[in-house]
Parts: sequence; structure tokens; C-alpha cells
Amino acid sequence: MKFVPQKFVEKQTKEIGKMLGDHRALVAVSGGVDSVTCAALTHRAIGENLLCVMLDDAFMREGEPERIARLISRPPLQLPIKTLNVQERFLEALEGHKDAEAKRKAFRETFYNTLRETAEEEGCQFLVQGTIAADIVETTRGVKTQHNVLAQMGINPIERFGFQVIEPLASIYKGQVRKVARYLGVPSEISERQPFPGPGLSVRTVGEIKADKLEMLKKATAIAEEELAKNPPSQFFAVIIENAERPRYSKLESLSKTIGDIFNVLSDYVFVKVFQDKATGVKKGQRLYGDVLAIKAEDENGHILKTPIENLVRLQDKIVEENPSFARVLYAINETGKRQTYSIVVRAVETVDFLTASVAEVSWTSLEKIADRIFDSCPTVSSVYYDVTPKPPATIEFE
Ligand code: XMP
Repeated sequence: MKFVPQKFVEKQTKEIGKMLGDHRALVAVSGGVDSVTCAALTHRAIGENLLCVMLDDAFMREGEPERIARLISRPPLQLPIKTLNVQERFLEALEGHKDAEAKRKAFRETFYNTLRETAEEEGCQFLVQGTIAADIVETTRGVKTQHNVLAQMGINPIERFGFQVIEPLASIYKGQVRKVARYLGVPSEISERQPFPGPGLSVRTVGEIKADKLEMLKKATAIAEEELAKNPPSQFFAVIIENAERPRYSKLESLSKTIGDIFNVLSDYVFVKVFQDKATGVKKGQRLYGDVLAIKAEDENGHILKTPIENLVRLQDKIVEENPSFARVLYAINETGKRQTYSIVVRAVETVDFLTASVAEVSWTSLEKIADRIFDSCPTVSSVYYDVTPKPPATIEFE
């Protein structure tokens, strides 16, 4: 059946109005299309009884909290919004966690506790949130903990957080949310924006979160997004990972040989490493917290061999098939040759439904430009890689 945004909006506005009556409700907006659409829809239903809050949680992109607050408080949306600076609280809550799921759970706990306190102060009994169908599918399949899927996880929000949760977008997918957003007059900067996870850059900081690491990631994110937006894939971003390597990883030698054969170079010109930190993948519909492999092949002058991205993806297929513990394969774009703490990974994918995705064939010229700019701005980054893993076996996010 064809999706008609007008009908969806009319039906949901009525239902939200009926459920909320004269009560006040809170919507947490992150600036993403889902939360803003949800806020605009709720505003239609209950007007000034809605309060939007933006949690400035330290994981938004450079300048983002101010930009989003400005955009949605102005016409045509004119949503009532309050920004809360809760950076310290979130940084403390996530401190010391390395594991991706542990970080997501700590984020979720802090997120809802902050909202509970705000709801109490503001006299709101309801929380309206922009959970969409794909969030529920992925969480219930056990791939990862979406920060906003509570009832589906068996968490009773009234008992645990003191408010009732309403999810007006839970039956629709991203493409339909965008249609609803356009219909509601959400500015195109938001309605057409690529997805950004609720826990923000905490997801794209692989392993432990540290202030300097987050700062490097923010700079790299601005660069990668600016360059890739010139010819935008479905989703594109930067990720930061510590250079620390897994010691004595067996099989690396045989891997070098396989890779050398494909590049037609001796295995002496092939370099492989397995990072200490792991990353989330998905295999046969199940979550896999797997290893991250980085590879580089050079010519005899020490220049990194630049082969078409599709060849690298094929190489990744072969490696992952033979070594099921790998969730990601990265290929070097460039490196400084200095020993530094971090690597940046550029991730760009093409996808329709976000449940599967292919690696975007970004030109080497763009990738090299991104790497050069990152080295100029991020002094503790010594390598920039391109993630050549589709979903599956990786997820779209790199966490
Ligand atoms: P994955 O990484 O699971 O991502 O392949 C699929 C899509 O979902 C987005 N994503 C999130 N969105 N909160 C969100 O609102 C989250 O916690 C979250 N995690 C992933 C991701 O960016 C991609 O578009």
C-alpha cells in the first residue's frame, strides 16, 4: 500500500492528542530527522504543552547543539526548545567503558535519568520519542542496544524512569519518516540529513572514550563530512580507534600471502595488523563483536597501492570468509609515518533500508584529500583508513 504522509500525520496527530489529553510531554531532540519529525508531529497535536529538550551530551558534532536549537526554534517549526549542558555527566557515566554495548547501556541509563529529572521539574508525565521500525528490529534481534528502545527490551519506563513513553513513528522506516518530515515543513537541512546515532560520537569512538580522542574525532568528522558531502553516499562519517595492536595474532602471515597474491606483490610489501579494540558486526542476523583488521600493500617505492574500492571489497569478502572472527577490514589511505596514538577510519556506505549496505566507491582523490586534511588538523592521528566492509558482516556504524 502506498504511504501517504498526509494520512499518517492526520491519524497520528489525532492519536497523540487522544493519548496526551491536557498533559505536558517531553521530546528529546538530537537534531536527527526522527526526533525532530516526532517533535513536529507532537507539536501539531498538543501545541505549547510540548517541551523539546536537547541534551548537549558531549557527543554531538562541532557546533551542532547551537545550530539545531536555532533551526527548530525558528519558523516554520517554532518548537519550544531547551538545551541542557550535560557534558560532564555523560562523560563521567561512560568513563572507563571499552565495550560497545557497555557504553550504549551507560549512555541509555544516563539519558533516561536526565530526562526523568527534567520531566519531573517540568511537570511532564509523558515522553514522546522518535523510535522507528528499524531501531526495534535491530535491538530485538540482539545486534545492539538502541538507546531509545525500552518497551521492546522488557524495560517498563513507568517503573524505571517514571514516565509513559509514546512512539508515533514506530511503524515506519527512514524513507517514510523523511516524507512525513517534508510534509510537516521540517527544514531540508534536517529532513534530508543522513542518520546520526542517538549516542552520537560515543558510538564512533571505538573503545574507551577520552577527551582528547573525542576532540580529534570531532575535527575528523567535520572534514570527512564536508568532503564526502560533495558527492554524498547514503551515509558517511569518521571513526577514531587507538593504534594499539593485538600481540601475537596467529594467521597474519598466511593473510599477508593471500593479500600479496591478490595485489600481485610479494608478501614483504603487505602489512597487516589487528587492532586491540573490537568492533560490532552482524553475521547471519546475529551480533558479532569481532576483530578489526587493517591492511596495506605497497609498491617497491613505499607508496600505498591504490586499487579500485570494489577489488578491496572482494578481498575483504575472501578474508572474512576464511577468518570468521573478523568483523571489519580496513585499507590504508595514507599515514604520516610517525608513531601516534590514533587512527581515523572513514566509513561511507550506500543503502536503501539501512538493514544491509554496500561500501561506497569513493574516489581515491577524495579519500586522499580527506586524509591530508585530517593529518593537518589532528596531530595525534598517524593513519587514515577506509572501511571496505559491507553490512553484513559489519554494521553501518563502527563501534
Ligand atoms: P547499524 O550500525 O546498526 O545502523 O548498521 C543502522 C542505521 O541506524 C543508525 N543507528 C542509530 N540510530 N540511535 C539511532 O537513532 C542509535 O543508537 C543508532 N545506532 C545506529 C545508523 O547510523 C544507521 O543509519
